[in-house]
Amino acid sequence: MNSDQGLAAIVLGAGLGTRMRSSRAKVLHELAGEPIIARTLRAFAALDPRPLILVVGHQAREVEAVARQRLPQTDLRFAKQAQQRGTGDAARCAVDSLPADFAGHVLIGYGDMPMLKPATLRAFIAEHHKRGAELTFISVKLQDAGGYGRVVRDRDGKVARIVEARDATNDERAINEINTGIYIAQGAFLRAALARIRPDNTQHEYYLTDIVAIARQSGVSVDAWLACEAGEFAGVNSREELAEMEAQVRTEINRSLMAAGVTIIDPATAYIGAEVEIGADTTIGPNVQILGRSRIGSGVVIEGTAWLRDVAIGDRCHLKIGVRAESCVIGEDSEIGPFANLREGTHLEGHNRIGNFVETKKARIGRGTKASHLSYLGDAIIGRETNVGCGVITVNYDGYDKHVTRIGDRCMVGCDTQLIAPVTVGNDVYVASGTTVLRDVGDGGLVVSHHPQREKPGWTEQWHKRHANHPKARTNARNDDD
Ligand code: UD1
Ligand code: CA
Repeated sequence: MNSDQGLAAIVLGAGLGTRMRSSRAKVLHELAGEPIIARTLRAFAALDPRPLILVVGHQAREVEAVARQRLPQTDLRFAKQAQQRGTGDAARCAVDSLPADFAGHVLIGYGDMPMLKPATLRAFIAEHHKRGAELTFISVKLQDAGGYGRVVRDRDGKVARIVEARDATNDERAINEINTGIYIAQGAFLRAALARIRPDNTQHEYYLTDIVAIARQSGVSVDAWLACEAGEFAGVNSREELAEMEAQVRTEINRSLMAAGVTIIDPATAYIGAEVEIGADTTIGPNVQILGRSRIGSGVVIEGTAWLRDVAIGDRCHLKIGVRAESCVIGEDSEIGPFANLREGTHLEGHNRIGNFVETKKARIGRGTKASHLSYLGDAIIGRETNVGCGVITVNYDGYDKHVTRIGDRCMVGCDTQLIAPVTVGNDVYVASGTTVLRDVGDGGLVVSHHPQREKPGWTEQWHKRHANHPKARTNARNDDD
């Protein structure tokens, strides 16, 4: 057998996955924030197969889109399985789309194996070539073999066939060596074997597993490679299995982060995505979700109860309790929260403070600028070293369009200011508290729109007198208002 004639790979992902009880194709369900299919494909793509064929059927367009988006560098092709008539039929669809002169080996796996590691596939392929078999598949031994296909061996211990749990006799069901669903076969044999599969089983499906018995019958060498690490081959079939796997992935991710110098106060409540990067000496408190392509610097403190997706957080930032941030950049040495909502397009240049009950959206905020309490800053461009007072609101929406507010460097924007966008406030401006800024303000001035203050002496007493017969009338000076 020659290993130089190339490697192609096939991943089957056309099924709906009835046991998920979902209207969404099984392989689109997410594990650690990433579709199952993307995780599985990545393990195969690491071997650089040419091509890597994904069989699609249920929600083909969505599955294709996810695969293309997540594996942009891969020589990825798609084969359509119009009707889900079984794994054997799916594999046939893919093999039909291989170049006619393909003379190499074909690696096949199922799309629902998100724990698979490239190193394992590499070792498996090497072993296949070393043994010189025409068909090799990976088996593992399980305490509880559940619904997996059983590996039936003959008297001399040679692999005879694979029988599905639902088609198995009681004796066969007692076998604890199972089929993981990863195969490698010489191309010509595979083509011939797939053409011979018949749907004579309880499900009336074309089973890919039947190629094992076909190999034996045709005198083609077939062998199982018994792997020891079973967890890697678990296929997701139900939501319960998905949740178990999620916990396992989470544990692995947290372990490797801790090994790399990240403190995780309670790993059981740290939900960190597979693609997240975190620098050393960063502390993650309880109840924290960090998702998507987030990058967290070094020496960052995330106190707890945070939901972060696609964020870039600079070194030494301090996120107090209760921060929600999505698609934003938080420059180094910033202090955020407690209870802050940083929405998409927020860009803090560094040394910022965004305090409690502040919401930002599409806001570029210069270095050293602070908004410490109760503000809405949307569609805003704010300079450096500016202080945004309590209760400042950018009034960005006129019912039709969003408008931009610009505020310069070193401004003092007083409490309870409203900025009616589009509007520009220059550098070094003082905005008096309670001002409604309607028009642009030049550099260096004070802007005030106070109503003149009026005072009526003795008014309160008159007011109470007028309500002397009211049920809530005051009997004495005590305020018994509820
Ligand atoms: C399969 C194997 C079983 C093995 C187990 C390992 C068969 C007959 N059985 O069972 O021996 O122990 O995986 O996890 O192969 N698919 C298609 N088109 C179809 C049917 C399925 O593309 O017509 C795809 C599915 O999307 C899925 C994969 O094939 O990704 C496996 O299908 P699934 O129904 O999960 O097979 P199992 O019953 O788990
Ligand atoms: Ca499965």
